[in-house]
Amino acid sequence: MQTIPDILCYLNGEYTSLKHAKVSVLDRGFIFGDGVYEVVPVYGRKLFRFDEHLERLARSLGKVRIENPLDRAGWLERCRKLVAAQAADDQLVYLQVTRGVALRDHVMPADVEPTVFMMATSLKPATPEQRHHGVACVTARDFRWEHADIKSTSLLGNVLARQMSADRGAAETVMFRNGFLTEASSSNVWVVHEGAVLGPPKSEHVLEGIRYELIRELCEEEGIAYNLRPIPEAEVLAADELMLSSATKEVLPVTTLDGDPVGHGALRGKPGPVYARLHEAYQRAKGLQSI
Ligand code: PDD
Repeated sequence: MQTIPDILCYLNGEYTSLKHAKVSVLDRGFIFGDGVYEVVPVYGRKLFRFDEHLERLARSLGKVRIENPLDRAGWLERCRKLVAAQAADDQLVYLQVTRGVALRDHVMPADVEPTVFMMATSLKPATPEQRHHGVACVTARDFRWEHADIKSTSLLGNVLARQMSADRGAAETVMFRNGFLTEASSSNVWVVHEGAVLGPPKSEHVLEGIRYELIRELCEEEGIAYNLRPIPEAEVLAADELMLSSATKEVLPVTTLDGDPVGHGALRGKPGPVYARLHEAYQRAKGLQSI
């Protein structure tokens, strides 16, 4: 068994040790994966794009019909308390809301209190090696359900997809639905084509990462064209550059796909110039957009 660190977490109104925090076996998060979550990066002890994460949480809660248990001030106060209790300056706040505890029945129970769980852990950034050489990805058919837009804790499809890449020593699994790019198991995917950044359109097949809007803003700052449109698999395989984005990866270059080098000419199999500019712009944004 892994050792659970003795750090502060928040569970249903109480701050307690992660080692000792317990929920009921009848929690619908445990029984059905009936809950939603967020992962908020923290830089220099400040929450990055906090309001965007809270807005997405509210959207996810609305889609699964769980009432938001806290207001903005309540979420912020709890996040800050957990961040203050950690030694690291750069962290990740994980927060999860499940429908609560009830006797097992698929029907949503009335009058149950949602379970709220939160923890802050130190951020494990991409390694200098990954930034310098890029990462390997594999491809797969997107076999997940049709509500990938909900940031749900029901992540078995994503877990199975991620393991396909882990089994092959790769960093992510890039998925296609009906021949079009959706996303990776826990990241969004970006294609660079003739200097423009392309992403799949927002839909129920893709989680709208907080970095969707951030990358649009960074492209605007950098004078890079940004376009969301359906991207056929062939375009991904022929990309000039490929990138992943997520709270933990920020933007990260993909340099091999199913073992084949990404890109063309001298940059084949190497991180490209659009990645380098977005990565730098991202570092500047951290200081400006954290509260
Ligand atoms: N994953 N798509 C999926 C399926 C994800 O799980 C994530 C994030 C993203 C990127 O979203 P954002 O830019 O808001 O982090 C896209 C988080 C980090 C996780 O589950 O740990």
